[in-house]
Amino acid sequence: MIIGSISEDKSFENRVAITPDTIKKYKSLGLEIHLSKDYAKHIGINDKEFEKEGAVISDNEEMVILNSNLILQMNIPNDENIKKFKENQTLIGVLNPYLNEKKLNELKAKKVNCFSLELLPRITRAQSMDILSSQANLAGYKAVIESFAYFQKAIPMMMTAAGTISAAKVLIVGAGVAGLQAIATAKRMGAIVFATDVRLASKEQVESLGGKFLTVEGSENLETAGGYAKETSEEFKKKQESLLKETLKKIDIVVCTALIPGKKAPIIIKKDMIDVMQSGSVIYDLAASQGGNSELTKVNEVVDNNGVKIMGDANILNKLPVSASNLYSKNMFNFVNNLFDKEKKNFQINLEDEIIEKTMVK
Ligand code: NAI
Repeated sequence: MIIGSISEDKSFENRVAITPDTIKKYKSLGLEIHLSKDYAKHIGINDKEFEKEGAVISDNEEMVILNSNLILQMNIPNDENIKKFKENQTLIGVLNPYLNEKKLNELKAKKVNCFSLELLPRITRAQSMDILSSQANLAGYKAVIESFAYFQKAIPMMMTAAGTISAAKVLIVGAGVAGLQAIATAKRMGAIVFATDVRLASKEQVESLGGKFLTVEGSENLETAGGYAKETSEEFKKKQESLLKETLKKIDIVVCTALIPGKKAPIIIKKDMIDVMQSGSVIYDLAASQGGNSELTKVNEVVDNNGVKIMGDANILNKLPVSASNLYSKNMFNFVNNLFDKEKKNFQINLEDEIIEKTMVK
């Protein structure tokens, strides 16, 4: 059985689906790994490192696809490569079924099995495969690093002979996986951290990390049975706006992480709220590519609103691609391991397994 992976389109993706440290694990299952030439060279991992672990490097991308039983990617391949797939192969990645319907229909027509890892159920058994959590965790950390680097003042309180520098005040909007990591990172760097979320359950988590939770009245009703946020009512939005508008006057850095699964990100920081912020403040919008939590966010641009800088990357994980790939690659291995039947030595698509059933693109 051969597992293959080809280079991603580097114009928008730096991460890779297989890193050298997982090759041993695949080999221990009796699986071979084939990769295209210079697979991860752009992030400082040379072909030799893969070869040392036992991977086969090929300068013929088409052969990698044709020879593989399973093709593991970050993103869905381009049209040209989709044409090369054949019956009974399996493609696993973040395939984004809502955006890539045409390509996925083409693959399904050829009887290629497709699994999209962002559809994983949030259950205990799937935690080791949970790419949303592993990537969100890194994104939360990096958003703090990016915004702090852009901020023109020091972050921690410093008492010096020349005088005292006060600690920066940071607000984290949305306290899910990314938000909680952002709180932890900002605290470690000496900031005073505030956070808000529509799920009141996150209050305890925020406080356990040393953050101050801003409670919007009515939050207790806004969590789904699955632990996700519901869309908020107009009345809630008004209450949240007035609470945040008051808070933002004294905040130096805002990190936005609020999302609603399957929907455009909610606009939480409106222009009139940004207008009351002090010049020199920074807003980093992690929700930028899903529409943004701030009204003024523009993807990959720094917007200046009276000295308040609003920034957000299309893919912040491209700024720490090695760590992001290492975690993604481990998540991916755990998914493949669950699909692999160790006795029969082949892949079993058992639709009674919730993990397999939910991630399969139908
Ligand atoms: P997410 O990425 O969908 O959203 C980020 C955060 O934004 C969430 O905390 C959400 O409540 C918040 N948010 C949404 N709209 C908002 C608004 N208008 N104002 C303020 N905040 C708003 O969420 P993520 O990080 O994926 O986590 C969601 C839930 O899933 C959490 O309960 C988490 O504990 C749970 N989870 C469970 C896992 C497991 O059991 N395997 C793994 C990871 C997360």
